[in-house]
Amino acid sequence: MDSNTRAELDHYITTLYAQEDETLRWIQDEANRHELPAISLKPFEGRLMQLLAAMINAKKIVEIGTLAGYSGVWLARALPHDGKLYTLEKSARHAQIARRSFQRAGVADKVEVLEGDARESLRRLSAHAPFDLVFIDADKGSYPDYLAWAVEHLRPGGMVAAHNAFRSGSILKPQSADDHAMLAFNQAIADHPQLDGMILAVGDGMAVGVKKG
Ligand SMILES: C[S@@+](CC[C@H](N)C(=O)[O-])C[C@H]1O[C@@H](n2cnc3c(N)ncnc32)[C@H](O)[C@@H]1O
Repeated sequence: MDSNTRAELDHYITTLYAQEDETLRWIQDEANRHELPAISLKPFEGRLMQLLAAMINAKKIVEIGTLAGYSGVWLARALPHDGKLYTLEKSARHAQIARRSFQRAGVADKVEVLEGDARESLRRLSAHAPFDLVFIDADKGSYPDYLAWAVEHLRPGGMVAAHNAFRSGSILKPQSADDHAMLAFNQAIADHPQLDGMILAVGDGMAVGVKKG
């Protein structure tokens, strides 16, 4: 499939399933206004994560990599009224912008933004385990450590998901350290004795693993 056809199909599924409401558009406008990098999920990837969370009846979600809270709002909207999203962000500036996003979306009561390096935040979050879903969308070099933490702290039937499994195709000819880290991560899910895995070929690829019972 050529890149034009792919772009048209992405547009098609966005129109069908992932149209942004005023709040989601506001969050992206705010992110642009603050000159944050344009590295959030695409709308249809947000919708995918929301659907995966709903499919496993997720009540407790951990997200690693908050940015402006765009994917966090998609996820929080999949939660029941007593559900909780813990979202981890090392940049104080991003965390502050994200808190405003969660307020604006009316989901702030369900979302806790943990500021600081994710490794440290994960150590603290262990006390709240087990979790239903761990969504990884941050520093690629740490993905293997995040995966180990997720498998240890997910309930049986819980899911770990990681964005950028394809790295825009670079995993086929890996060059950078991040490309190699992503390849190692995809392989780790495929080989993991406690996970049933797959890469969902939506957007930049969503690597998923379901913890065996
Ligand atoms: C790709 S963006 C997240 C996008 C977000 N999930 C979305 O779709 O709206 C990655 C974020 O992870 C944060 N980050 C990178 N390394 C981190 C670390 N070690 N601990 C916590 N956050 C980190 C970055 O500051 C950035 O805001």
